[in-house]
Amino acid sequence: MTLRAATPDDLAGIMAIEQASFPTDAWSVEAMAAELASPHNRYLVDEAEGLVIGYGGVRALEGGADADIQTIAFDAAQRGRGLGRALLRALLAAAAERGAREVFLEVRADNPAAEGLYRSEGFEEIGRRPGYYQPDDVDAIVMRLDLRNRGTNLHRSLSEERSDDGLHRSLSEERSDETKRSDRTEGQE
Ligand SMILES: CC(C)(COP(=O)(O)OP(=O)(O)OC[C@H]1O[C@@H](n2cnc3c(N)ncnc32)[C@H](O)[C@@H]1OP(=O)(O)O)[C@@H](O)C(=O)NCCC(=O)NCCS
Repeated sequence: MTLRAATPDDLAGIMAIEQASFPTDAWSVEAMAAELASPHNRYLVDEAEGLVIGYGGVRALEGGADADIQTIAFDAAQRGRGLGRALLRALLAAAAERGAREVFLEVRADNPAAEGLYRSEGFEEIGRRPGYYQPDDVDAIVMRLDLRNRGTNLHRSLSEERSDDGLHRSLSEERSDETKRSDRTEGQE
């Protein structure tokens, strides 16, 4: 397995996993292409024998105080082997490198595998959004991780950024048309 930065050439491989993983609310090809192209996002793919077997992305504006896990998914045959955790950790490291101190995400309340992964990495529930995922009418669990409570590698990245505190701006002030997975399910595609 090799983790590397995603490129536009990975779009077809990513979309195959996307559509299989999220049958009722997969992102469109156009939406995924925009995600990969955004300078505010960092997308990684995991590949084996030249094929994309998983992908994930984080939205973290350079110098922003917070970041969002946009999505993460693996081919069904590859799940349960620690790859999702490794990819999530790489995304958190990327967020820390960009100066983020907090990371947010939303997860479907009927997705215990993903919720378990996030909780085991230190994410805590901070709220629920009833019926957020449509058309399935499933609640979203909103979760938050304080990167400052994490290990030495992330701390090192953060301490380099702290000299620059005055320049940090809240990501929420800067969010524009680019949105998270959960936002897209509300008909923005
Ligand atoms: C969520 C996902 C990315 C996790 O990746 P993965 O490689 O299967 O996960 P890992 O093997 O790294 O497991 C990490 C942790 O996740 C949790 N987990 C994984 N599979 C689980 C399952 N079937 N049930 C409960 N918890 C599970 C556990 O906490 C696990 O830690 P453990 O092995 O120490 O018990 C993967 O299951 C997936 O692609 N799911 C479909 C897409 C999806 O739902 N994405 C999340 C959108 S928010």
